[in-house]
Amino acid sequence: MKYLVIVTSLLVAVSAEELFIPSADGSTSTNIPVKLNQESMHFMIAGDFGGWPPPFYTTPTQWTVAEAMGQAAEKLKPNFVLAMGDNFYFLGVQDTEDERFNKTFESVYTSPYLQVPWYPTMGNHDWHGNAHAQLDYSHVSKRWTYPWYYYTLDYTLTLSSTTMRIVMMDTTIQCGIDSEGVPINATVAEEQWAWVEQQLKDGQDFDYLVVVGHFPVLAAGNTGPTNECLFNRLQPLLEEYGVSAYIAGHEH
Ligand SMILES: *[C@@H]1O[C@H](CO)[C@@H](O)[C@H](O)[C@H]1NC(C)=O
Ligand SMILES: *[C@@H]1O[C@H](CO)[C@@H](O)[C@H](O)[C@H]1NC(C)=O
Repeated sequence: MKYLVIVTSLLVAVSAEELFIPSADGSTSTNIPVKLNQESMHFMIAGDFGGWPPPFYTTPTQWTVAEAMGQAAEKLKPNFVLAMGDNFYFLGVQDTEDERFNKTFESVYTSPYLQVPWYPTMGNHDWHGNAHAQLDYSHVSKRWTYPWYYYTLDYTLTLSSTTMRIVMMDTTIQCGIDSEGVPINATVAEEQWAWVEQQLKDGQDFDYLVVVGHFPVLAAGNTGPTNECLFNRLQPLLEEYGVSAYIAGHEH
Protein backbone atom coordinates (compact mmCIF):
# COMPACT_ATOMS: atom_id res chain seq x y z
CA MET A 1 0.00 0.00 0.00
CA LYS A 2 3.00 2.36 0.20
CA TYR A 3 2.73 3.53 -3.39
CA LEU A 4 -0.95 4.28 -2.88
CA VAL A 5 -0.13 6.65 -0.06
CA ILE A 6 2.46 8.47 -2.16
CA VAL A 7 0.12 9.00 -5.09
CA THR A 8 -2.55 10.21 -2.71
CA SER A 9 -0.38 12.91 -1.21
CA LEU A 10 0.72 14.13 -4.64
CA LEU A 11 -2.84 14.60 -5.77
CA VAL A 12 -3.75 16.45 -2.65
CA ALA A 13 -1.58 19.26 -4.00
CA VAL A 14 -4.23 20.13 -6.64
CA SER A 15 -5.20 23.68 -5.87
CA ALA A 16 -8.42 24.42 -4.08
CA GLU A 17 -9.36 27.20 -6.52
CA GLU A 18 -10.15 24.60 -9.14
CA LEU A 19 -12.90 23.19 -7.01
CA PHE A 20 -16.42 24.38 -7.37
CA ILE A 21 -18.64 23.99 -4.36
CA PRO A 22 -22.19 25.10 -4.91
CA SER A 23 -24.41 26.57 -2.27
CA ALA A 24 -27.25 24.43 -1.10
CA ASP A 25 -29.88 26.85 -2.46
CA GLY A 26 -32.69 25.47 -0.39
CA SER A 27 -32.23 21.87 -1.51
CA THR A 28 -30.76 21.09 1.88
CA SER A 29 -33.70 19.44 3.55
CA THR A 30 -33.12 16.28 1.58
CA ASN A 31 -34.49 13.46 3.60
CA ILE A 32 -35.09 9.86 2.56
CA PRO A 33 -37.71 8.22 4.79
CA VAL A 34 -37.86 4.42 4.52
CA LYS A 35 -40.35 2.14 6.27
CA LEU A 36 -39.42 -1.51 6.39
CA ASN A 37 -41.87 -4.22 7.37
CA GLN A 38 -39.10 -5.88 9.38
CA GLU A 39 -38.14 -6.37 12.99
CA SER A 40 -34.44 -5.72 12.44
CA MET A 41 -32.15 -4.81 9.58
CA HIS A 42 -28.60 -5.07 8.35
CA PHE A 43 -26.53 -2.61 6.40
CA MET A 44 -23.03 -2.74 5.00
CA ILE A 45 -20.37 -0.05 4.90
CA ALA A 46 -17.75 0.28 2.17
CA GLY A 47 -15.20 3.06 2.19
CA ASP A 48 -12.40 4.21 -0.08
CA PHE A 49 -13.25 1.55 -2.61
CA GLY A 50 -12.76 3.67 -5.72
CA GLY A 51 -10.64 1.32 -7.80
CA TRP A 52 -7.92 2.73 -10.00
CA PRO A 53 -7.79 5.11 -12.98
CA PRO A 54 -7.88 3.72 -16.55
CA PRO A 55 -6.75 1.42 -17.95
CA PHE A 56 -7.25 -0.64 -14.77
CA TYR A 57 -10.48 0.76 -13.29
CA THR A 58 -10.36 -1.68 -10.37
CA THR A 59 -7.76 -3.29 -8.14
CA PRO A 60 -7.33 -6.92 -7.03
CA THR A 61 -8.11 -5.80 -3.48
CA GLN A 62 -11.34 -4.20 -4.60
CA TRP A 63 -12.43 -7.42 -6.31
CA THR A 64 -11.60 -9.44 -3.20
CA VAL A 65 -13.60 -7.11 -0.99
CA ALA A 66 -16.51 -7.09 -3.45
CA GLU A 67 -16.58 -10.88 -3.41
CA ALA A 68 -16.44 -10.99 0.40
CA MET A 69 -19.22 -8.40 0.55
CA GLY A 70 -21.30 -10.54 -1.80
CA GLN A 71 -20.84 -13.61 0.38
CA ALA A 72 -21.67 -11.73 3.57
CA ALA A 73 -24.63 -10.05 1.88
CA GLU A 74 -26.06 -13.39 0.85
CA LYS A 75 -26.24 -14.36 4.53
CA LEU A 76 -27.15 -11.00 6.03
CA LYS A 77 -29.38 -9.61 3.28
CA PRO A 78 -28.43 -5.98 3.87
CA ASN A 79 -31.13 -3.40 3.26
CA PHE A 80 -28.61 -0.85 2.05
CA VAL A 81 -24.92 -0.02 1.75
CA LEU A 82 -23.22 3.17 2.94
CA ALA A 83 -20.46 4.30 0.57
CA MET A 84 -18.02 6.28 2.65
CA GLY A 85 -16.30 8.35 -0.03
CA ASP A 86 -13.26 8.20 -2.29
CA ASN A 87 -15.66 6.39 -4.54
CA PHE A 88 -13.47 6.95 -7.64
CA TYR A 89 -9.69 7.20 -7.36
CA PHE A 90 -7.91 9.53 -7.82
CA LEU A 91 -9.76 12.35 -9.49
CA GLY A 92 -13.42 11.40 -9.18
CA VAL A 93 -15.56 11.25 -12.30
CA GLN A 94 -15.97 13.63 -15.25
CA ASP A 95 -19.69 13.36 -15.96
CA THR A 96 -22.60 10.93 -15.63
CA GLU A 97 -21.44 9.12 -18.77
CA ASP A 98 -18.02 8.46 -17.26
CA GLU A 99 -17.24 4.78 -17.68
CA ARG A 100 -15.79 4.76 -14.18
CA PHE A 101 -19.36 4.37 -12.90
CA ASN A 102 -19.73 1.11 -14.73
CA LYS A 103 -16.22 -0.27 -14.54
CA THR A 104 -15.26 0.76 -11.02
CA PHE A 105 -18.68 0.36 -9.42
CA GLU A 106 -21.54 -1.41 -11.23
CA SER A 107 -19.44 -4.19 -12.76
CA VAL A 108 -17.61 -4.93 -9.51
CA TYR A 109 -20.37 -5.19 -6.88
CA THR A 110 -22.42 -7.65 -8.88
CA SER A 111 -23.85 -9.90 -6.17
CA PRO A 112 -27.65 -9.93 -6.39
CA TYR A 113 -27.65 -9.24 -2.65
CA LEU A 114 -25.79 -5.97 -3.22
CA GLN A 115 -28.45 -4.65 -5.60
CA VAL A 116 -29.87 -2.52 -2.80
CA PRO A 117 -29.63 1.24 -2.33
CA TRP A 118 -26.05 2.50 -2.01
CA TYR A 119 -26.01 5.79 -0.14
CA PRO A 120 -22.76 7.66 -0.86
CA THR A 121 -20.90 10.54 0.63
CA MET A 122 -18.06 12.35 -1.14
CA GLY A 123 -14.41 11.79 -0.24
CA ASN A 124 -11.58 14.22 -0.90
CA HIS A 125 -10.67 12.40 -4.12
CA ASP A 126 -14.20 12.70 -5.44
CA TRP A 127 -13.94 16.47 -5.14
CA HIS A 128 -11.02 16.53 -7.59
CA GLY A 129 -13.48 15.54 -10.30
CA ASN A 130 -17.04 16.53 -11.09
CA ALA A 131 -18.66 15.91 -7.73
CA HIS A 132 -22.09 16.96 -8.93
CA ALA A 133 -22.02 14.20 -11.54
CA GLN A 134 -22.02 11.71 -8.67
CA LEU A 135 -25.31 13.19 -7.51
CA ASP A 136 -26.73 13.11 -11.04
CA TYR A 137 -25.69 9.50 -11.49
CA SER A 138 -28.56 8.65 -9.12
CA HIS A 139 -30.85 9.12 -12.13
CA VAL A 140 -28.86 6.57 -14.12
CA SER A 141 -28.14 3.81 -11.61
CA LYS A 142 -30.71 1.48 -10.09
CA ARG A 143 -29.00 1.57 -6.70
CA TRP A 144 -26.77 4.67 -6.44
CA THR A 145 -28.93 7.01 -4.32
CA TYR A 146 -27.31 10.39 -3.79
CA PRO A 147 -29.86 13.20 -3.56
CA TRP A 148 -27.57 15.97 -2.31
CA TYR A 149 -24.08 16.43 -0.84
CA TYR A 150 -25.62 15.99 2.59
CA TYR A 151 -28.89 14.29 3.44
CA THR A 152 -30.60 12.15 6.05
CA LEU A 153 -31.90 8.60 5.93
CA ASP A 154 -34.76 7.95 8.32
CA TYR A 155 -35.40 4.25 8.77
CA THR A 156 -38.42 2.85 10.59
CA LEU A 157 -38.74 -0.86 11.32
CA THR A 158 -42.46 -1.27 11.72
CA LEU A 159 -42.42 -4.74 13.31
CA SER A 160 -40.33 -3.58 16.26
CA SER A 161 -41.09 0.17 16.17
CA THR A 162 -37.36 0.85 15.97
CA THR A 163 -36.12 4.00 14.29
CA MET A 164 -32.74 5.16 13.07
CA ARG A 165 -31.66 8.46 11.56
CA ILE A 166 -28.43 8.51 9.58
CA VAL A 167 -27.01 11.97 8.89
CA MET A 168 -24.83 11.84 5.78
CA MET A 169 -22.33 14.72 5.72
CA ASP A 170 -19.76 15.95 3.20
CA THR A 171 -16.62 16.47 5.27
CA THR A 172 -14.72 18.00 2.34
CA ILE A 173 -17.23 20.85 2.17
CA GLN A 174 -17.03 21.19 5.95
CA CYS A 175 -13.31 20.88 6.51
CA GLY A 176 -11.46 21.22 3.21
CA ILE A 177 -9.90 18.99 0.63
CA ASP A 178 -6.62 18.28 2.37
CA SER A 179 -8.02 17.63 5.85
CA GLU A 180 -6.17 20.66 7.22
CA GLY A 181 -9.44 22.08 8.37
CA VAL A 182 -9.84 25.05 6.03
CA PRO A 183 -13.07 24.78 4.08
CA ILE A 184 -12.98 25.76 0.41
CA ASN A 185 -15.93 28.08 0.87
CA ALA A 186 -16.67 29.08 4.45
CA THR A 187 -20.23 30.19 3.68
CA VAL A 188 -21.15 26.86 2.18
CA ALA A 189 -19.39 25.03 5.01
CA GLU A 190 -21.38 26.96 7.62
CA GLU A 191 -24.63 26.18 5.81
CA GLN A 192 -23.87 22.52 6.18
CA TRP A 193 -22.81 22.78 9.81
CA ALA A 194 -26.10 24.52 10.63
CA TRP A 195 -27.98 21.81 8.75
CA VAL A 196 -26.15 19.02 10.61
CA GLU A 197 -27.00 20.51 13.98
CA GLN A 198 -30.64 20.93 12.98
CA GLN A 199 -30.84 17.28 11.88
CA LEU A 200 -29.40 16.16 15.21
CA LYS A 201 -31.73 18.44 17.16
CA ASP A 202 -34.76 17.22 15.23
CA GLY A 203 -33.55 13.65 15.46
CA GLN A 204 -33.69 13.28 19.24
CA ASP A 205 -36.71 10.95 19.11
CA PHE A 206 -34.94 8.37 16.98
CA ASP A 207 -33.72 5.25 18.79
CA TYR A 208 -30.43 5.46 16.93
CA LEU A 209 -28.80 8.60 15.63
CA VAL A 210 -25.82 7.94 13.39
CA VAL A 211 -23.54 10.44 11.66
CA VAL A 212 -21.53 9.57 8.56
CA GLY A 213 -18.64 11.42 6.93
CA HIS A 214 -15.51 10.64 4.96
CA PHE A 215 -12.85 12.06 7.31
CA PRO A 216 -12.51 10.53 10.78
CA VAL A 217 -12.56 12.71 13.89
CA LEU A 218 -9.79 10.66 15.46
CA ALA A 219 -7.55 8.15 13.71
CA ALA A 220 -4.73 5.88 14.73
CA GLY A 221 -3.05 5.55 11.33
CA ASN A 222 -1.57 7.69 8.57
CA THR A 223 -4.17 10.43 8.74
CA GLY A 224 -4.25 10.68 12.53
CA PRO A 225 -4.35 11.54 15.27
CA THR A 226 -7.07 14.13 14.71
CA ASN A 227 -8.82 16.09 12.08
CA GLU A 228 -8.77 19.36 14.04
CA CYS A 229 -11.73 20.79 12.18
CA LEU A 230 -13.96 17.79 12.90
CA PHE A 231 -12.60 17.44 16.40
CA ASN A 232 -13.46 21.06 17.18
CA ARG A 233 -16.79 21.25 15.39
CA LEU A 234 -18.25 17.76 15.18
CA GLN A 235 -17.10 16.05 18.35
CA PRO A 236 -19.05 18.47 20.62
CA LEU A 237 -22.19 17.94 18.52
CA LEU A 238 -21.84 14.16 18.71
CA GLU A 239 -21.70 14.44 22.50
CA GLU A 240 -24.36 17.09 22.94
CA TYR A 241 -26.93 15.23 20.86
CA GLY A 242 -26.10 11.73 22.11
CA VAL A 243 -25.10 10.35 18.74
CA SER A 244 -24.91 6.54 18.76
CA ALA A 245 -22.08 6.23 16.25
CA TYR A 246 -19.91 8.24 13.89
CA ILE A 247 -18.87 6.26 10.83
CA ALA A 248 -15.98 7.48 8.66
CA GLY A 249 -13.68 6.37 5.85
CA HIS A 250 -10.35 7.89 4.68
CA GLU A 251 -8.15 5.96 7.10
CA HIS A 252 -6.87 2.81 5.42
C1 LIG B 1 -19.05 30.87 -1.53
O1 LIG B 1 -20.29 30.35 -1.93
C2 LIG B 1 -21.30 31.33 -1.99
C3 LIG B 1 -22.61 30.62 -2.22
O2 LIG B 1 -22.53 29.81 -3.38
C4 LIG B 1 -20.96 32.35 -3.06
O3 LIG B 1 -21.97 33.33 -3.13
C5 LIG B 1 -19.62 32.98 -2.73
O4 LIG B 1 -19.21 33.81 -3.78
C6 LIG B 1 -18.57 31.90 -2.51
N1 LIG B 1 -17.37 32.53 -1.97
C7 LIG B 1 -16.18 32.34 -2.51
C8 LIG B 1 -15.04 33.02 -1.82
O5 LIG B 1 -16.00 31.62 -3.48
C1 LIG C 1 -20.08 -2.26 -18.15
O1 LIG C 1 -18.83 -2.91 -18.08
C2 LIG C 1 -18.92 -4.27 -18.39
C3 LIG C 1 -17.56 -4.92 -18.11
O2 LIG C 1 -16.51 -4.01 -18.19
C4 LIG C 1 -19.35 -4.42 -19.84
O3 LIG C 1 -19.45 -5.80 -20.17
C5 LIG C 1 -20.70 -3.74 -20.03
O4 LIG C 1 -21.07 -3.77 -21.38
C6 LIG C 1 -20.65 -2.31 -19.55
N1 LIG C 1 -21.98 -1.75 -19.56
C7 LIG C 1 -22.22 -0.51 -19.97
C8 LIG C 1 -23.63 -0.06 -19.87
O5 LIG C 1 -21.35 0.21 -20.40
